[in-house]
Amino acid sequence: MCGIVGYLGPRPAVPILVEGLEKLEYRGYDSAGIAVVNGGELQVEKSAGKLQVLKGRLNGNLNGARLGIGHTRWATHGRPSDVNAHPHLDCTGKFAVVHNGIIENYLELREELTTAGHRFVSETDTEVLAHLVEQFYEGDLFSAVLRMLPHLRGSYALAVASAYHPEEIVGVRQDSPLIVGLSSEETFLASDIPALLAHTRNTYILENGEVVHITTEGARVYDSRGIPRDKKVYHVDWDFQAAEKGGYAHFMLKEIHEQPRALRDTLGGRLQPDGRVKLEGVNMTPETAAYIEKIAVIACGTAHYAGMVGKYLMEKLLRLPVEDDIASEFRYRDPIINEKTLGLVISQSGETADTLAGLRAAKKAGAQILAITNVVGSSVAREADHVIYTWAGPEIAVASTKAYLTQVLAEYLFTLYLAEIRGGAPWAADLGRQLRLVPDNVAEVLKAEGQIRELASRVAKHEHVFFIGRGMDYAVSLEGALKLKEISYIHAEAYAAGELKHGTIALIEKGTPVIALATQVELLEKIISNIKEVKARGAWVLALTQEGNTAIEKEVDQVLYLPVVPSLLAPMVTVVPLQLLAYYAAVARGCDVDKPRNLAKSVTVE
Ligand code: F6R
Repeated sequence: MCGIVGYLGPRPAVPILVEGLEKLEYRGYDSAGIAVVNGGELQVEKSAGKLQVLKGRLNGNLNGARLGIGHTRWATHGRPSDVNAHPHLDCTGKFAVVHNGIIENYLELREELTTAGHRFVSETDTEVLAHLVEQFYEGDLFSAVLRMLPHLRGSYALAVASAYHPEEIVGVRQDSPLIVGLSSEETFLASDIPALLAHTRNTYILENGEVVHITTEGARVYDSRGIPRDKKVYHVDWDFQAAEKGGYAHFMLKEIHEQPRALRDTLGGRLQPDGRVKLEGVNMTPETAAYIEKIAVIACGTAHYAGMVGKYLMEKLLRLPVEDDIASEFRYRDPIINEKTLGLVISQSGETADTLAGLRAAKKAGAQILAITNVVGSSVAREADHVIYTWAGPEIAVASTKAYLTQVLAEYLFTLYLAEIRGGAPWAADLGRQLRLVPDNVAEVLKAEGQIRELASRVAKHEHVFFIGRGMDYAVSLEGALKLKEISYIHAEAYAAGELKHGTIALIEKGTPVIALATQVELLEKIISNIKEVKARGAWVLALTQEGNTAIEKEVDQVLYLPVVPSLLAPMVTVVPLQLLAYYAAVARGCDVDKPRNLAKSVTVE
């Protein structure tokens, strides 16, 4: 996730672009840059670091320009650095591109362009776009962009400017947002509405495949073949704060709803049609992969619970022992780790102190390290031998949602990768096919939001809630309980359902809410027995199970049906209603959802 802006009009472009980027900094903040067309020349200023650094560098420069494009970056391909910051230029320096999204086939394109004589300076996927525009350019910028589009795979919102066209910007939207701001003498472009509101409330919200051609005459929208579209003006009547959250009341809710997109991006071009997986940051050889005898998960909190799902998954499919450990315990317990261990370090921020210390301890003991992280260039990413980035985009709410889900997805991708490099597996193609459906399954489960909200209002009245599950459902119930306690301050405990009767069942009394996860088909009878045990003690039971499993209705008080997915993939679907349940319970109790008490987003102290 990144933010892009554009401006063409009678006023100096730079202050308008910078102000727009300020409003988009929540979309990414590891580097920023702008390109303007000034006196027939493209001038670029860009730098790693927050927008503040760019502002310092601009310091009144480039002020003559009336046209420009700008970018604030959340790194995906290529670490945060001056050279990887956008805008990117072609070899001639005449075309500049800013981009939000992922060009999945950029490596192929880069190879073709290199063979054709193009020279690349950055590690980004975006740079190919500037070279492609130049390649297709025959005197008309708009046509060059149209000719490029059929060659792109992936998600993108783009803005293109050229020294040859001091009064034109071309923008394209495909699976990443792009909005055109309309005013009588000037036109704006932005990834999100807050960047426009200081100037106009009249907008075109571009649809997938639409291309906008901005000139001094205004903005015209076309389809990807260049056929004009009859576009309706959308008038924005919300305020700044609401707009920044995309109309959602809280970042957490927005991030929960972003999950289908985050999953699609994380799958990106990685999963091939035959179930094979390309992981650009993982460089195992068949020999180093065959050497692995044990996997040790090292992580904290939600990331640790993502690791627990991975334990069930990898042990079942890869038949490799997986220890899952809380990083703060791992680092001091003198674990049995050696060069035959793969340390699987999971961290959204990539900066959690205990996780980083665990990584270093495992590395010192000889383990090779695979990091799963959301932040390109973070400490965890830099110190690991292999990295899988979760392309969830910046997570602003303290309670992790989209990062968790993409961490879990990354584990499935790695499982496929490891199976393949260790000689292949009969289940790989099937698992690959099913993984591809997960973003849609998650979009489907989000439709139950209304029902979950009602259930949450009931849960919100209690001070103690129990979650039970077996197998992978147990791992997910731990995450569900953590979400509930951290944002609603309800005491929530998750138990392996079979363990309840060894003590904790003493806490169940009339009306105690028990949330029972019942998605593991082979354990269904067992969890139903456990549900009967708590029902017999007066519990109010909400079951989460798959569509069609109506037999459970007579055993419980409420059922929330989930889309049918194989048991092995259920965690990625089941966790979503638990996130919404926690969210709406916290709202019902009047809690500060995005900034819960006593917590910080990144825990960089021990
Ligand atoms: C809970 C939550 C935390 C983090 C934990 C690790 O919602 O977000 O439990 O998962 O602090 O943080 P990272 O993943 O940044 O290492």
